[in-house]
Amino acid sequence: SQIIFITQNQERYELSAESGSLMELAKANRISGIDGDCGGVCSCATCHIHIHPDHFEQLPAASEIELEMLELEDNVSDTSRLACQVKVQDAPEGLIVTVAN
Ligand code: FES
Repeated sequence: SQIIFITQNQERYELSAESGSLMELAKANRISGIDGDCGGVCSCATCHIHIHPDHFEQLPAASEIELEMLELEDNVSDTSRLACQVKVQDAPEGLIVTVAN
């Protein structure tokens, strides 16, 4: 799938992958603002992203653990997710995500 990342500096990156998580994809492409400190086990929230509202409902819902982590985050929006918990395979083609502050 093609995934579009928009950074905090409004830089736009069009990335492609077939597997893995959005966090892994961002890290592999050195997208700034996605640190992934916990390695993708849903315990650091340094992979916080905002999903484009048009795409949010197309993703599988967040788990309880992910929602609890997001509750502790600043700058949470209605379409916040943790990038390590979103699989590339589940992403609609052309998914747009914005890196959270
Ligand atoms: Fe730590 Fe996503 S990488 S919560």
